[in-house]
Amino acid sequence: MILSIESSCDDSSIAITNIEDKKLIYHKKISQELQHSVYGGVVPELAARLHVEALPKILQECEEYFPKLKAIAVTNAPGLAVTLMEGLTMAKALSISLDIPLIAVNHLKGHIYSLFIEKDEIFPITTLLVSGGHTQIIDVQSLENMKIIASSMDDSFGESFDKVSKMLNLGYPGGPIIQEYSLKGDENTFDFPVPLRQSPKIEFSYSGLKNAVRLQIEKLEKEGLSQQDKYDVCASFQKTAVAHIMQKLKKLFKQKSPKNFAIVGGASANIYLRNEIENLCKKYNTKLYLSELKYCSDNAAMIGRVAIEQYKIKDFISIKDIGVQTRLKDM
Ligand code: KG4
Ligand code: ZN
Repeated sequence: MILSIESSCDDSSIAITNIEDKKLIYHKKISQELQHSVYGGVVPELAARLHVEALPKILQECEEYFPKLKAIAVTNAPGLAVTLMEGLTMAKALSISLDIPLIAVNHLKGHIYSLFIEKDEIFPITTLLVSGGHTQIIDVQSLENMKIIASSMDDSFGESFDKVSKMLNLGYPGGPIIQEYSLKGDENTFDFPVPLRQSPKIEFSYSGLKNAVRLQIEKLEKEGLSQQDKYDVCASFQKTAVAHIMQKLKKLFKQKSPKNFAIVGGASANIYLRNEIENLCKKYNTKLYLSELKYCSDNAAMIGRVAIEQYKIKDFISIKDIGVQTRLKDM
């Protein structure tokens, strides 16, 4: 069994996974959304302090598995430095005291492997990762052969939902709230510009759209922002945010339609995005894979699933060499 720890942002999570049959034996996650909600976004120092409380609480429930553990896995990049450190400190201490190897897991690979929890891997699979920190298309050939083929130049897809939600004082995380508000709004009320529409490149940008929404909200506030205005802003924004991804995906599929395609990450829970991508995949006869909703957002089960594969190839790291990285240039 492998014990895995995730603390890259605002979720404290620990999982125990069987190496042989990939079965998830134990999985728990304590989210901090409520505590960050008042600030309209994640406050790193507060997040770190909450991990210090939550992680040991979860770990206590895992003690019965300690004698069976063969390795400790931990997310070490990318993420918030101060929160990653909390997971790392715990992982190091466990590795020393139980005298078992340490595995450093790339959080982005974790999101991709959320597709394969308790399942075999599927390769090759072109993957759209949409989360609070990332908007990327990744060509996934194998565990060790992954290439980022497109990413965002500024804000991420999920982050733009969080920021629009903050502008409207709707709370954090913005994604689920904006999606809910959009159901009551008319998506054709405001004509926000689709980012990078003229660019032939497959890449993303959300800062321009965010600013266009900000200007619209400021204008409405002068006239008196009604509840229906809020619904309409959310619906029009969501439509444009998704249209941007779809425009670039259509370009990609036109160049070479993939055999397998997947959407992963917290924002892959977006129903509007899921529907649009389902239609695109149908048109191109591409098989679409989605991770289960409970594994879309950050969790340790996905980290444990990657760790099984790293364990098999003895991809261990020494306590003195492991460190945290806030950003990764490549996979
Ligand atoms: O993967 P995740 O849990 O954390 C990161 O690694 O960032 O993703 C969280 C992000 C947040 O920005 C949240 O607003 C967004 O995913 N999100 C959504 C939806 N549900 C969550 N964005 C759009 N639509 C949703 N339904
Ligand atoms: Zn994530």
